[in-house]
Amino acid sequence: MESKPSIPEEIPTFTATLIIRRFDPEVDDEPRWQDFDVEMHGTDRVLDALHKIKWEQDGSLTFRRSCAHGVCGSDAMRINGRNRLACKTLIKDLDISKPIYIEAIKGLPLEKDLVVDMEPFFDSFKSVNPFLMAGGLPQGGKERKQSPVERARFDDTTKCILCAACTSSCPVFWTDGQYFGPAAIVNAHRFIFDSRDENAQVRLDILNDKEGVWRCRTTFNCTDACPRGIQVTQAIAEVKQAILRGKP
Ligand code: SF4
Ligand code: FES
Repeated sequence: MESKPSIPEEIPTFTATLIIRRFDPEVDDEPRWQDFDVEMHGTDRVLDALHKIKWEQDGSLTFRRSCAHGVCGSDAMRINGRNRLACKTLIKDLDISKPIYIEAIKGLPLEKDLVVDMEPFFDSFKSVNPFLMAGGLPQGGKERKQSPVERARFDDTTKCILCAACTSSCPVFWTDGQYFGPAAIVNAHRFIFDSRDENAQVRLDILNDKEGVWRCRTTFNCTDACPRGIQVTQAIAEVKQAILRGKP
């Protein structure tokens, strides 16, 4: 006789303590830290903990998120002192014997709780012309062809989701908000090394500025912070080389 399928035991839970840096510009002069205890499952992410707090404990907790799956780039935050996406960070992978510290990314104006003003970040991004610039009609009048090798040349930097984890982990950006920052340079790289683009020199001239690539001190914070695994520091180094020697 066939045995009946066993009923799964209840999924175990654990309590995680989150200490979140709060700031309400209408009430607070300075940011303050607030503790929350949350019941979590092993599959829960930091984003799930934030949702639980917002929905069950304090509806005023403010943070950005959209896709919840590492695609939109809207929930970069400092988790235990390191820039990460809340939706890609499993609570069980953090040391839950200690509180988990969560705060907004650094170097951009704090608006409320975990939300910063992203306008300066996007201004830098826009200033490097992050779009294909190709004049005239393509050969044959239909399409701009590219070989697999040519496409592979800039594949890494196509993966950027503009989360700002790199730029807001950069000590140069913290001290000088005028610096273009790693994300803008990554997005310039994406088009500088695209064989179909005809205006690499325009971007190289922009990034040869005193607030451009030469401010980079090669600390690798940006590469460590990138949730897409982009070799950010290498991309910056390649742009520096292209400024000195011309686009290869
Ligand atoms: S390079 Fe990486 S860390 Fe920087 S904005 Fe793009 S995805 Fe985010
Ligand atoms: S919510 Fe979209 S990347 Fe995390």
